[in-house]
Amino acid sequence: MFASFPVFNTHLDLAHFYWEKVLQSGDTVIDATCGNGKDTLRMARSCQGTVYAIDLQPNAIECTKQLLHAHGFAQNIHYIQGCHSRFPETIAPGSVKLIVYNLGYLPGGNKNLTTTTKTTLESLNNALPLLKEGALLSITCYPGHAEGEIEADHVLKWASSLDPCQWSCCLHRWLNRRKAPCLCLIQKFKT
Ligand SMILES: C[S@@+](CC[C@H](N)C(=O)[O-])C[C@H]1O[C@@H](n2cnc3c(N)ncnc32)[C@H](O)[C@@H]1O
Repeated sequence: MFASFPVFNTHLDLAHFYWEKVLQSGDTVIDATCGNGKDTLRMARSCQGTVYAIDLQPNAIECTKQLLHAHGFAQNIHYIQGCHSRFPETIAPGSVKLIVYNLGYLPGGNKNLTTTTKTTLESLNNALPLLKEGALLSITCYPGHAEGEIEADHVLKWASSLDPCQWSCCLHRWLNRRKAPCLCLIQKFKT
């Protein structure tokens, strides 16, 4: 009777659903926290275009590179080891269709190397001008750990303050699991 319980999609399923709704062949995308590369691979498959994979940790960049190579993605993938608070100047404003943040720390890695409120907010502010009309910003927050809870609060406040004439902001959150991950989606309006 409860073979597929609960019936709700996870935050990841939902994120993937929305990414695929906006992506078209040849699009440019940025994974701002590439980690083990699973999200980057999904984005590369869905856009068949130009992919930027950013992470602070050299081993995360290496893992992502290996995963993408193993799946035949070698061209048009740019690996950037460093903080996502600044994006490469080669990415033109208004040129990106999807920017993804999967905040927190690398699963199985050093939990101290987590995203932080200050650089995440800096990065989000710098990400907005890069998006083209109809493009999506997808942010998964992890309030289950101390820094993640503070970061999630700030990210949601930041998203709530965006001009409703330019940005459509929505949140997917579990109501009875306060510390569960939540998904914030922001779409740039078409004018
Ligand atoms: C939850 S993991 C990402 C998981 C990844 N999306 C995947 O599919 O495996 C978060 C990542 O953010 C990275 N990170 C933390 N602070 C960062 C920063 N300031 N700039 C770029 N990456 C950062 C961490 O190194 C970690 O790999």
